[in-house]
Amino acid sequence: MSIVLLAIESSCDDTAAAVIRDGRVLSNCVANQEVHRQFGGVVPEVASRAHQANIVPVVDMALRNAGITTKDITAVAFTRGPGLMGSLLVGASFAKGLALALNVPLLDVNHMQAHVLAHFAEEPHPPFPFLCLTVSGGHTQIIRVTDYHQQEVLGETLDDAAGEAFDKSGKLLGLDYPAGPEIDRLARQGKPVFPFPEPAIEGLNFSYSGMKTSILYFLRDRQKENPQFIEENLNDLCASIQHSIVGILLKKLRKAARETGIKQVAIAGGVSANSALREGLQELGQKEGWTTFIPRFEFCTDNAAMIGIAGYYQYLRGQFAEHDVTPYARQLKV
Ligand code: KG4
Ligand code: ZN
Repeated sequence: MSIVLLAIESSCDDTAAAVIRDGRVLSNCVANQEVHRQFGGVVPEVASRAHQANIVPVVDMALRNAGITTKDITAVAFTRGPGLMGSLLVGASFAKGLALALNVPLLDVNHMQAHVLAHFAEEPHPPFPFLCLTVSGGHTQIIRVTDYHQQEVLGETLDDAAGEAFDKSGKLLGLDYPAGPEIDRLARQGKPVFPFPEPAIEGLNFSYSGMKTSILYFLRDRQKENPQFIEENLNDLCASIQHSIVGILLKKLRKAARETGIKQVAIAGGVSANSALREGLQELGQKEGWTTFIPRFEFCTDNAAMIGIAGYYQYLRGQFAEHDVTPYARQLKV
């Protein structure tokens, strides 16, 4: 008999639902919350309320697109954390209620592990062991993946995430939230002529808050001489910011690969849509003799298919959740 999972993701500002049958994605739906754009960032309370409004229609669409009804569901998977507490609670409560009503098991999934397991949504899968750089608005981690359920964090950000660095730098340039895609687009017409200092962080950890401050001071000083500085140099500024953020990511990834001797290297998360990161990874991979893996964009940004894939492997191991399970906002050690 096949295993049909309904998966729910609601950790930040995307309400997502997916149906996974025997580890294959049948549907993957997401409602993005445009409402945060006007605030220049995600407002937690606004996100929770939007999840409340979106969750039933999104689940309904995921079931319809998969051509199934609730009667076909074998188990319900949901994101337990890390994420925004109010947002997580909406998904967790919905999943619990549905699992109880259908009398099917519940699977609690770690969002960060799921980003990595998104690589198993489609062929070719990276072979174990592999390294995965998970980069998004909330996360920056280098993970050593030795099995579906064995993921070791080798390095992570000490402050801002890489996507946050894109978004906050973009805000300084007057770009809308989230600024990452716009910086990527404008950077194509510019050159990385402005050097921003690279933080000296030991080991495989990252730090992006210093860069944000140096961009702030740099812009302030230049605007004193020329109030039009940003407008006149926007493309070059975007190219320079992107070059610095991506350069740090690739340098640490190279260090991790050399130290571990692992030559299968993957990226995941919203920032893996960045063209400079994608090109840089391919280029570096060729030099270093890596096999590289980049998932399709819909499996990079926050999505429920990855929760369903992670849930599927937990199901096979019999790792179910009790109904008193509670969400966690911060990363647990994985
Ligand atoms: O994975 P995701 O959708 O949600 C989080 O878990 O945060 O990632 C969103 C992040 C945002 O910071 C956004 O600016 C960034 O991914 N992003 C990009 C690009 N596309 C999305 N950053 C740089 N270049 C892009 N093309
Ligand atoms: Zn995420």
